Order: sequence, then C-alpha cells, then structure tokens
Amino acid sequence: MIEQKKFRIGILGSGKGSNMVAIAEACANGTIPAEIAVVISDVESAGILERARERGLKGQFIAPGKFRTKLDESAENEFINTLKTEQVDLVVLAGFMRILKGDFLRVFEHRVVNIHPSLLPAFPGLEAWKQALDYGVKVTGCTVHFVDQGVDTGPIIAQQTVPVSFEDTDETLHARVQEAERELYPECVAALARGEVVVRGRQTAWKK
Ligand code: GRF
Repeated sequence: MIEQKKFRIGILGSGKGSNMVAIAEACANGTIPAEIAVVISDVESAGILERARERGLKGQFIAPGKFRTKLDESAENEFINTLKTEQVDLVVLAGFMRILKGDFLRVFEHRVVNIHPSLLPAFPGLEAWKQALDYGVKVTGCTVHFVDQGVDTGPIIAQQTVPVSFEDTDETLHARVQEAERELYPECVAALARGEVVVRGRQTAWKK
C-alpha cells in the first residue's frame, strides 16, 4: 500500500506561542489531519521555540537581518528554503511580527494564513484589542485570513466574535480574544488541511 504524505504545516511566530500550542495539540489528537514540520522564529529567545521543542517539534531560529519590520533578502531566502526543504503545504503565521512580501508570498501563493486579534477590516495593525477597547465597540473578536501584500488585508477565512464589557481592561479583553483565537485557528487549519476552503477573489467558503 502506498502511504499518502501527511499534510505538512510550517509555523512562524515571534512571541509566546499559544496559537502554535493549540494547533500542535489539535494535530496530536487528530483534530487537524496534519503534522507540524517546523516552527521558525525571528526571535531567538521566543517562547514559541521553547514550547515547540518541549513538544518534540523542530524549532528553528532564523536571524531576520537588519530591518525592524521585515526580513532582509538573505533571511527571507533562508525562511523560504527551510519551508521548502520541510515540504510544507501551508505556512501558518502565529504572532509573526514581520511583514512578508513579494518573493515569499509568490513562492507560497494562497498558502500563507494569519490570525489577527480583531474583526477585520476593523482595527488592523498592532494591539487590535486595545484599539477596539479605546474605540468603544461592543463586539470584537479574531479573524483568520489568507496573507496578501497588504497588512491584515487578505481574503477572510473565518471570524469569531468576542463581546466587550464595560468592565474590560486591555488585559481581560486580550485574554478573551486569545481564547477565541485558540478555538478558531485550529478549526481553520483543519479545514485547510482537508482541502475544504475554496477561494473566489476576496470571498472564501468551506465546502464539506
Ligand atoms: C495573537 O494574539 C495573534 O492574534 C497575533 O499575535 C498573537 C500571538 O500570540 N497575530 P501567541 O504567540 O500565539 O501566543
């Protein structure tokens, strides 16, 4: 019998790695029919690498180069080569704090996804839960989307709402948004691994 190659995920992150852990757990218990091939960070001391390694996953640091908000050319090539060597089918951004551009997105066209802590297109950019609280919205949430050349602008795959209460602080709202992220992201990655997500221009749908 020919064994089918498992769907392979590469995760990129710069922070503590709670989304990576949620996805790793869903892969381990079979909710996501895929395996994590590699976890890469641009921050050597990032929690995401430690949490990946303690789970027996490959955690790799790649120095980002001289820029603050993007990768320099050689770093970008190293990211691309590592993901290619690992035969990654899907690149999952989980708190990756650099903007990916041109070459990277061309190599992994329609195969890079991100999670953002607001209901896009409201509050793109940094500290979106804080932007939502400061604005006074009654409902915020999180969005999983494909990554395109813009910042938080790619086609939306799914969103989950989180009510905002009068008592909320930055911390309490952020914690509830992150809780929603840990539910939504694994569900979306599972649908992508099963090939259930179809894209038509800016619209997407889940076909079972
Ligand atoms: C998440 O809140 C996500 O929305 C944003 O970065 C954060 C990463 O958190 N893009 P973690 O590293 O997954 O804990």
